[in-house]
Amino acid sequence: MKVYVTRQIPESGLVKLRSVHEVIVSGKDRVLTQDELIAELQEHNPDAVLCLLTNSINGKIFDAAPNAKIFANYAVGFNNIDIEAAAERGVTVTNTPGVLTDTVAEFAMSMICATTKRIVEADDFTRAGKYDGWGPMLLLGVDLRGKTLGILGAGRIGTRVAEIAHNGFGMNVVYYDIKQSEHIEKGARATFRATPEEVLQEADVVSVHVPLLDSTRHLINAERLAMMKPTASLVNTSRGPVVDEGALVSALKNGAIRSAALDVFEEEPALAPGLAALSNVIITPHIASATEETRSKMSDIAAENILAHLRGEEPPNSVGGK
Ligand code: DGY
Repeated sequence: MKVYVTRQIPESGLVKLRSVHEVIVSGKDRVLTQDELIAELQEHNPDAVLCLLTNSINGKIFDAAPNAKIFANYAVGFNNIDIEAAAERGVTVTNTPGVLTDTVAEFAMSMICATTKRIVEADDFTRAGKYDGWGPMLLLGVDLRGKTLGILGAGRIGTRVAEIAHNGFGMNVVYYDIKQSEHIEKGARATFRATPEEVLQEADVVSVHVPLLDSTRHLINAERLAMMKPTASLVNTSRGPVVDEGALVSALKNGAIRSAALDVFEEEPALAPGLAALSNVIITPHIASATEETRSKMSDIAAENILAHLRGEEPPNSVGGK
């Protein structure tokens, strides 16, 4: 059978797919436009599609590949896929959970350290030739031990960040999720708060780990940023639209919060006006899961989902659709 892959990904999964099926990988090393993707699917008429979080998968895309009853997303997040449209057409959607938990959590913790210790700012300062000797007041940051980490979203990644911060850095953890979680409470001695507002008011560092849903879009808005401590930092490694980026730019400019670190953006890859000019924000290009090991494992899992489906079995990581 034919599997269409919307962009080159690490080979490991593709090798598995090729051992059984014909695999066609888009020849363009960039995100295909909607029209290009539709044209490719119509030309190749695949039985399965391996797509990326940068592909917006909707009814028109499904209709361009009527034989493809599985769309395997190469990501744990699947907000790029219209699940209802998939269900209407009997298409199964899968994701790649688990394998990127540690990687993204390590990255979020690195962002927490980098923003509170002003590491990027200090690197810029030193490279610019401004370092003229040790100074007692030079680039002062803040300690993490004894401070409060606020976790919004206590899924796998949020829980792992909380564990690292508590067990490795001596931080206290408070968290908000739609339901209380035994895992984060056991692993990080975290304390549940019934609203995101309570977490925002209490935390010295807030790390966001919610999926992008209608209910989480602009979860961090101007009003909630104003509730944070002026000494607090915000880290977002989840999805850009969870934070109102314009409101964040204002909050960072007017000192409503101390600093931020963002790996994801509202209109990716575009940045909100004024964001890149701020020295109290760290911005990275959606690389929280970007390690050689993890990206290969994601490739394997996406392939395994397709292989199972094409064997007539339920894929291990179905998230909806059919
Ligand atoms: C995911 O898997 O959802 C990540 O954002 C990819 O880096």
